[in-house]
Amino acid sequence: MFPINEVETHPSNLAGETAWPTQSVPVLPKPFAQAALQLSENDISQFANNKEEIKEILKNSDKRLFAPPNTENVLVLPGYDGGAEYGGAGADPDKGIIYVNANEMAWFLRMENNDNPSVNNNANNQISIGEQSYRNFCMVCHGAERTGNTASGYSNLTLVSQKMIRQNVQQIISSGKGKMPGFPVISKEEREHLVAFLFGDEKKEAGSTGLSSFQQDLYKFTGYNKFLDDNGLPAISPPWGTLTAIDLNSGEHIWQTTLGITPELPNQDTNPTGCENYGGPIITENGLLLIAGTKDGFFRAFNRFTGKLLWQTKLPAASFATPAMYQINGKQYIVLACGGEKLGTPKANVIIAFGLN
Ligand code: HEC
Repeated sequence: MFPINEVETHPSNLAGETAWPTQSVPVLPKPFAQAALQLSENDISQFANNKEEIKEILKNSDKRLFAPPNTENVLVLPGYDGGAEYGGAGADPDKGIIYVNANEMAWFLRMENNDNPSVNNNANNQISIGEQSYRNFCMVCHGAERTGNTASGYSNLTLVSQKMIRQNVQQIISSGKGKMPGFPVISKEEREHLVAFLFGDEKKEAGSTGLSSFQQDLYKFTGYNKFLDDNGLPAISPPWGTLTAIDLNSGEHIWQTTLGITPELPNQDTNPTGCENYGGPIITENGLLLIAGTKDGFFRAFNRFTGKLLWQTKLPAASFATPAMYQINGKQYIVLACGGEKLGTPKANVIIAFGLN
C-alpha cells in the first residue's frame, strides 16, 4: 500500500453546483498515462495540418487536474475512456506486477447555458412528447441536431429510419447497444412517441408535455467530443496508446511501450504511434503478454519481462475485448471475439482461437 494524499481541488463556478473540495491522489504507483496539466505547445501532434488552431484550443482550455465542469472547454486527459479502460489489467500476483493498457486520448467537457435557441427552437415551447423525450434522454450523446459525433463513436440518428426498423430502435432504447446504456425507465408509450419522432412521423399533440420527467436544467452538457485534428487523428502528440508493466512493490514502471499503430501514417514499423484500445491483456507464466484491443485490428504477443513485441497478426476485425485462455488435453488455446464496429472500424462477427505450441 502507498500513501494517499487528500489534495484540495477547484470550486465550481456553475450556478447551483458545488464541487467536492478535495480528491485522493496516491503518491505511487507512478501515473501510467499523461494528464492535461502537463500539455504544452510542444505536445501538438506533428501530423496535424491545423497546428495553429490546435494551439489556440489548447491555450484556451482548462487543463487543471480535477477541473470541475465549466462553460469553458475543460480538457479531459486521461479521457472519458481512460487511461485504463474496461478490459482491466493483467496481473502476476507472485512477482507483484500489473500490466495495463491505456489510451492517451484527450476529450472535452463543456457545459452550456440552457437557453440556447438551437435547443428551444420550437415556437411557444410546444415540443412534442417524442422530442421532449429525445432532449431528456438522448441529446447528451446524439446531439441537438441528432447528428451524433461519429468520430467519437456516437451514432448519427438522422438517417435511422432508412437504416433500421422501428422494432430494432425500440429494442436499442430499452436495452442499449455497445457503449450506449438502455433506458428501461422510458415507458412503452413514451418510447413509441420517441421512435416516431426519430422517424419523422410523430403526430404532434400541442401542449402535451406530461409524459416524461423532463426538467429544464440551468446548464446542458455539450457532448462527448474527442480533441482531434483536421484528419480525425488525436490532436496531441503520440503515443496514443500504451502498455505499461508496473512493479507494485516499488510503484515504479518496469517498462512502457506503445500499443498499436496508425496505418495511414508513415514509419509505423520503426516509430509506431500507438492507438486507441479497448480490452485488456492476459499473461502466461512463461513470459508472454497477449493483447488485442487496438483500433488497428491486430493481436499481439509481447515479452512480458522486457516489453518487446514478439509477434503480431491481423485479425478479421478489431477485437475490443480481453482474450480468454483455456486448456484441453494439455494444449493451450487463446480465443478472441472480433466484432469491430466500435470507433468506425469494419464490423464482423467472428470468434477466433489460436493454439499455443
Ligand atoms: C451515454 C450516451 C448515449 C445516450 C444517452 C444515448 N445513446 Fe444511443 N448510442 C450511443 C452510442 C455510443 C451508440 C453506438 C453503439 C454501438 O454501435 O456500439 C449509440 C447507438 C444508437 C442507435 C443505433 C444507431 C446505429 O446507426 O446503429 C440508436 C437507434 C440510438 N443510439 C438511439 C438512442 C436514443 C433514442 C437515445 C435516447 C433514449 C439514445 N440513443 C441515448 C450512445 C448513447
